[in-house]
Amino acid sequence: MDCLVCHEQSGKYKKFPTACGHPAYEEKNFGGKVFEPVDLNAVAKTVGKPGLQNCGVCHFFGGGGGGVKHGDLDSSLLSADRDLDVHMSKEGANHTCTACHTTINHQMAGRYYTEKAPLEHSMAMPEDYGNRISCESCHGSTPHETMTILDDHTAKVSCQACHIPRYARGGISTLMWWDWSTAGKFTEDCKPIVEKNENGRPTYHTMKGDMTWAENVVPTYAWYNGGMEYVTIKDTLPKDGSVEINRPLGSYDDPESRIFPFKYYEGRQIYDAGANRLVYSKLFGPKGSGAYWSDYDWQRSVEIGMAESGEEFSGQIGFIDTAMYWPITHMVAPKEDSLQCAACHARDGRLASLPGFYLPGRDRVSWIDTVGWSLFVLSIIGVMIHGLLRVVFRMARSKKQ
Ligand code: HEC
Ligand code: HEC
Ligand code: HEC
Ligand code: HEC
Ligand code: HEC
Ligand code: HEC
Repeated sequence: MDCLVCHEQSGKYKKFPTACGHPAYEEKNFGGKVFEPVDLNAVAKTVGKPGLQNCGVCHFFGGGGGGVKHGDLDSSLLSADRDLDVHMSKEGANHTCTACHTTINHQMAGRYYTEKAPLEHSMAMPEDYGNRISCESCHGSTPHETMTILDDHTAKVSCQACHIPRYARGGISTLMWWDWSTAGKFTEDCKPIVEKNENGRPTYHTMKGDMTWAENVVPTYAWYNGGMEYVTIKDTLPKDGSVEINRPLGSYDDPESRIFPFKYYEGRQIYDAGANRLVYSKLFGPKGSGAYWSDYDWQRSVEIGMAESGEEFSGQIGFIDTAMYWPITHMVAPKEDSLQCAACHARDGRLASLPGFYLPGRDRVSWIDTVGWSLFVLSIIGVMIHGLLRVVFRMARSKKQ
């Protein structure tokens, strides 16, 4: 990564898609889009501290478009109102990314991976979870001024679970389902097919297959202690015909674990059906190179992808359903929009299928139930009194003014 991408403030510095990180130095064309040559002197004179835009040029568009990967990091944050993000909105804290992702000597805090990006095709795997950041680093673990019942939750429920009630809330949809098995269809006169929904998002693309997008999505909740378990290309897949590529680690009994929100991102992708493993496929390259996006032959694109990366391939391809957990940690909503008690404490609430513990209002165990319910009802009454007092105080205050 070069210095300008993070430090320039002109907004005119753009990388050319296939130039290995370089911008266009002369006028170039890519996919019908013209890239003007960049005036490096002018751009260099604008350097300053990285703003949302600098980090966003990469992180808002991971996977080849806005909201493709992250459900909580997209370009709607550039003009966020406080409802979307209390921290990054100008009316809110007006934070940039680096208010939370603090850096010392360019070591950025808030990483899941301590390993570098793959070098020589080694995998990026977490070895330890150092240098993490948390909501508590600014707010502490007892941030609630009046409702102590909320502070009682923070040992088991993450801040994010209550304070990010839904993701992809800024008007930009996020990709939820990507089916590669339907890619490669053409019109009768051999033209690629692109179908779009009312927001201009592709629902079918010859290069990519079928896709489903969504906004305002209710997260999937899981126990999470900050660690992830991964299935890599080295692992034999479970036999049940589907695989979670990463899975958050944790459980109710683990004191480090909290209930955490995730984007559950599903898809169908090519794999080695003989060896029952994931594969590398060659996607991009000129016609005749075996690249799928030029030759549309999965068999060859996998053969070449596996050979080029030194992996064994049985020769037999198939499609498999896969899923990934993407943590939801941005797009913190104003406190009024926090999850209500009944969103969790109900039979068919958001935690309906989260295993391993007793949750009042959801579960029934005779005597515990009575105790749990009384506590629950008492605290609801407390919440109502609290709400009432707030209204009373507000009225008293406005009378004084
Ligand atoms: C991934 C983004 C990124 C890249 C790439 C990057 N920087 Fe930075 N740089 C930062 C951040 C973040 C800060 C801290 C800003 C702050 O304090 O708000 C910073 C701070 C600085 C500072 C201020 C002194 C300091 O250490 O606080 C200088 C000078 C600097 N960078 C120069 C460079 C140079 C030269 C390069 C290329 C070799 C570079 N940066 C590449 C993100 C980046
Ligand atoms: C040129 C593209 C680019 C820019 C600009 C950029 N990043 Fe990144 N960022 C990446 C890539 C690629 C990775 C994965 C690197 C790795 O695994 O070592 C990454 C990793 C991260 C991670 C760790 C993610 C994880 O899951 O462990 C954080 C946090 C992060 N970046 C924040 C920032 C912030 C804050 C800025 C702005 C100061 C920024 N990035 C600017 C491309 C970029
Ligand atoms: C860099 C410090 C910092 C970090 C880290 C941080 N916050 Fe905040 N937070 C603030 C500031 C400053 C405000 C006040 C912004 C405002 O209300 O305009 C705030 C406000 C809030 C509010 C209150 C909004 C309201 O309606 O009054 C909530 C809720 C909140 N943060 C939750 C979180 C969560 C959840 C995280 C972790 C994902 C987090 N914060 C991380 C600094 C931080
Ligand atoms: C209010 C604080 C806050 C702000 C502002 C913030 N982040 Fe984060 N970010 C977090 C926290 C907390 C985590 C979780 C880190 C951890 O578990 O160590 C995180 C995680 C990440 C990750 C890791 C990968 C993932 O899946 O979430 C990336 C990448 C990232 N942030 C990028 C950004 C970028 C880019 C911006 C600015 C557009 C930004 N963040 C602004 C608090 C913040
Ligand atoms: C069980 C759900 C829940 C959890 C967990 C939770 N909060 Fe809250 N939080 C709320 C609700 C509801 C409110 C609004 C309270 C009110 O109206 O007074 C709130 C209010 C706040 C406020 C505004 C100050 C206040 O007292 O009104 C901040 C700041 C805040 N939370 C931060 C956090 C942080 C940081 C964490 C994690 C350490 C966290 N919350 C965990 C539900 C939760
Ligand atoms: C994000 C989901 C979630 C929300 C929202 C939530 N709770 Fe809970 N609550 C839990 C979980 C999980 C437990 C179990 C904690 C444990 O076993 O330690 C719990 C436990 C409790 C208990 C049992 C006693 C205790 O303190 O452990 C009471 C009472 C309670 N919650 C009341 C409330 C009230 C009142 C609200 C609304 C202001 C609320 N909860 C909002 C998830 C939630």
